Amino acid sequence: MNHDFDILSKIIKNRRSIFPASYIQKEIPKEIIEQILESANYAPTHKLTQPWRFVVIRNEAKASLAEELRRIYQETVPAEKFLQKKFDSFGTKTSQAQCIIAINVQFSGKIAEWEEIAATACAVQNMALAAEALNIGAYWSSPGLISGLGEFLGLAENEKCYGLFYMGYHNEEPREAKRTPMVEKVKWMEC
Ligand SMILES: Cc1cc2nc3c(=O)[nH]c(=O)nc-3n(C[C@H](O)[C@H](O)[C@H](O)COP(=O)(O)O)c2cc1C
Repeated sequence: MNHDFDILSKIIKNRRSIFPASYIQKEIPKEIIEQILESANYAPTHKLTQPWRFVVIRNEAKASLAEELRRIYQETVPAEKFLQKKFDSFGTKTSQAQCIIAINVQFSGKIAEWEEIAATACAVQNMALAAEALNIGAYWSSPGLISGLGEFLGLAENEKCYGLFYMGYHNEEPREAKRTPMVEKVKWMEC
């Protein structure tokens, strides 16, 4: 038995996407958010470009994010496709979340873009596992609207937003992961 593996495996398997509707109104201390962010910084990164860039949005800034999402939605969705429920959901979700971390990639030009996106996704998974270990619910949200968040987030020309990482303490019961067997996704070549 390997104690480290047992703990790691439990955290990996127990991590679920936990959505804002299940969050409770309990503040996540800044130091805890910093611990979660710190775990992101240990992701693997080709040529050490460390392309992950995050913007932490909390307190009053959440309302500004909601306003911006509503504005982008209203400006980009054709009138006949406009859904009031969707429009309202931006305010609901951002107020239910204790903290929202914008997931951004800074492209260095030194390696393929996909590698920098992949490294950032590794960083986000580190955050998700750290959050799970701290009993904090989280999920990666990637609505099309995020491509319009650059100015709001103060992103540079070579930076792009790939999602919003919603976080909050929660009251959800553990649930099984929905996955088909791994054996269906692996081919072994041994001779
Ligand atoms: C890159 C990425 C983008 C995602 N975007 C969304 C999203 O926009 N909306 C959503 O409900 N879930 C999103 N998810 C979460 C998935 O729905 C979730 O991981 C999947 O249902 C499996 O559930 P689990 O995370 O609990 O294992 C995203 C996950 C990843 C990795």
